[in-house]
Amino acid sequence: MSPVKISPSILSADFARLADGVAEAEAAGAEWIHVDVMDGHFVPNITIGVPVVAALRRVTRLPLDVHLMIEQPDHFIDAFIDAGADWLTVHQEASVHLHRTVERIRQLGAKPGVSINPATPAGAISEILPYVDLVLVMSVNPGFGGQKFIPTSTAKIAAIRSELDRRGLWPIELEVDGGISEKTAGEVCAAGATVLVAGAAVFNTAGTVAENIDRLRRAANG
Ligand code: DX5
Ligand code: ZN
Repeated sequence: MSPVKISPSILSADFARLADGVAEAEAAGAEWIHVDVMDGHFVPNITIGVPVVAALRRVTRLPLDVHLMIEQPDHFIDAFIDAGADWLTVHQEASVHLHRTVERIRQLGAKPGVSINPATPAGAISEILPYVDLVLVMSVNPGFGGQKFIPTSTAKIAAIRSELDRRGLWPIELEVDGGISEKTAGEVCAAGATVLVAGAAVFNTAGTVAENIDRLRRAANG
């Protein structure tokens, strides 16, 4: 399997100097940039939207990994893809016509992802797997950075990994988001995750962004 990718979540970066945070992550070898979009309805927090994705698009060549934690994502997918989202992930719980939504994302030229909350079973995305390029397993309840990893997430990642392998869907990226640190990176990678999202562990902990990304990468490969 190819080496794990790290997608730093700018939710924990300094919003007054986002371009600097992204540049530091890019210089440190981060593979993607994770952008958390929250609407105050699907999750109890409001963050950033389309204009910030467009602004980030101008300052980095890294793929923008946009995580929509919003209700009725269909209303916004065109705008996020126009703004420069490379990967666009919607929540299974927020999408009534999920197949239509992911097909639309692909048709517009982005790579579709589907995310599930901690209380949603892996089986809820079984039918949609052949139509997505990424599965995002939430390992905290979405809404905030800096929360504690929910330990049962590891078994869910392993279950999805074995289903992807069994069905020959191994090119699908298996991303994990929430509470990823040097303490949890090793176990989720051993369970089959291919992309680690990390916010607090990159931008809001002792050490430089480069040191923190290195530490995560060592733990992931450990
Ligand atoms: C949570 C977001 C995450 C968050 C992760 O709702 O989807 O991407 O930024 O932050 P940490 O790594 O701090 O748990
Ligand atoms: Zn996220």
